[in-house]
Amino acid sequence: MPAQPLPSLQGHATGEVSPGPNHVAIIMDGNGRWAKARSLPRGAGHKRGADAVRRVVTASVGLGVSYLTLFGFSSENWQRPPAEVRDLMGLLRYYLEREVAELSREGVRFRVIGDRARLPAETVALIEAAESSTAHNTRLQLTIALSYGSRQEMVAAAKSLAKDCAEGRLAPDAIDETMFAKRLFTDGIPDPDLLIRTSGEQRISNFLLWQLAYTELVFTETLWPDFGQDDLAAAIETFRNRDRRYGAVTT
Ligand code: IPE
Ligand code: IPE
Ligand code: MG
Repeated sequence: MPAQPLPSLQGHATGEVSPGPNHVAIIMDGNGRWAKARSLPRGAGHKRGADAVRRVVTASVGLGVSYLTLFGFSSENWQRPPAEVRDLMGLLRYYLEREVAELSREGVRFRVIGDRARLPAETVALIEAAESSTAHNTRLQLTIALSYGSRQEMVAAAKSLAKDCAEGRLAPDAIDETMFAKRLFTDGIPDPDLLIRTSGEQRISNFLLWQLAYTELVFTETLWPDFGQDDLAAAIETFRNRDRRYGAVTT
């Protein structure tokens, strides 16, 4: 049988220098170390981290990025001390209350992915309000991953497919990559072209494991609270010099 490209990779141009990225994902790491280096509480690092979010959203609009996905809080981050979790949830509420109107004026559509059942009810209400009030915006889709874990997301997708099969609505052989991807939180969002992780750590930490299959990875030493437009532009420049091959041979 002749080799067929994988369905999810069809349509990609191989071996060409990409002008994008259309979708940038960021693991925003290093808030705690930023604070520690200044003898400040970790919460101070998270607060400065929220300022960096603001800068990077605006910079992304300016740099022509269409989708920006930020890892804000992982499923595993629930294990942190309760006071730190409270600080982070408080910051999130503050951000949702104060910043969404301004983001909306900049043309930003807001979306949250992750397990909402674990988030405080008041936060979920603010998220839903932000999602509906910005639903008409088209300049940049900002997706924040909160209480998000990629393995949990994939297990939930598998469960929902299994349920459809067990109840006779779906034939197991009909399951393909497109159908699986539609059961993920990221349904409707293209896969990231570029993933940036700050703070010198070089791991994925349970973020978008399915979606990152052919994403270009860029690791930077900059701690997240120090990250700004120049760092984003530098990562994008690195991305543009990469040769994306998707498994094919290029000349
Ligand atoms: C990233 O900074 C923010 C979250 C994970 C919520 P960290 O809090 O992980 O900072 P470090 O890694 O301890 O420096
Ligand atoms: C990943 O950072 C999660 C977020 C950035 C929200 P962590 O700081 O939690 O990851 P590990 O523990 O270093 O892998
Ligand atoms: Mg960290």
